[in-house]
Amino acid sequence: MLELGVNIDHVATLRQARRTYEPDPVTASLLAELAGADGITCHLREDRRHIQDRDLHLLKQMVQVKLNLECACESEVLEIACQTKPDQVTLVPEKREEVTTEGGLDVVGQWEKVASSVKKLQDAGIPVSLFLDPDSAQIEAGATMNVEAIELHTGVYALSKIGPDREKALAQLKVASAEIVDAGIRLHAGHGLNYQNVQAVAAIDQMVELNIGHAIVSRAVLVGFERAVREMKAAMLQKS
Ligand code: PXP
Repeated sequence: MLELGVNIDHVATLRQARRTYEPDPVTASLLAELAGADGITCHLREDRRHIQDRDLHLLKQMVQVKLNLECACESEVLEIACQTKPDQVTLVPEKREEVTTEGGLDVVGQWEKVASSVKKLQDAGIPVSLFLDPDSAQIEAGATMNVEAIELHTGVYALSKIGPDREKALAQLKVASAEIVDAGIRLHAGHGLNYQNVQAVAAIDQMVELNIGHAIVSRAVLVGFERAVREMKAAMLQKS
């Protein structure tokens, strides 16, 4: 069955905006689990702009579903990954100045670096997924690394307008998906998926995991807003 990995990075983004203790991404993960999440995903970025080392360690202890750690092919975070041993590591590209992961890993251009990162993680017993653009050359190169999964970057599809552009992006995702499945690799996808555009990606043959964050955190803020205001009003009016 198709599994949902809930990315909780932006719960931590909100906390880091105030450098305080709330909202806690670990608490959010446990609520996601109660609501039926099949996995929890977090990205330990080099600049620690959202998830902190403390979060990862607590997530490892608390999360009962699959814990998927996204990280760059850089020795510091790879070392942390090997020590923490999440259920899966998804290797992603990382640039300091980007707002979010803007494209897939360049496995063609950085074969040695990616392959040695994969080996390090697999030697530590951790299954590896590569975050790749729906591009045949990248998928072919990724498939030579004996990885357990490839996650297709759905950003172009998600950002394209409904109509021919979206259809073209979806067609590219379908071709890439077939290439991954034909190579005997688990098919994952994610980035920019929301309540309106997820259906077509979820329907791709043999899709097994979708990782979704921003849309879920955004909706949580809005659907929870009225209740939060009502509760504050009640707290103000409580007799002390
Ligand atoms: N998959 C990967 C590899 C990502 O880097 C991200 C963003 O951190 C996501 C999925 C989730 O993307 P979004 O927050 O747009 O749902």
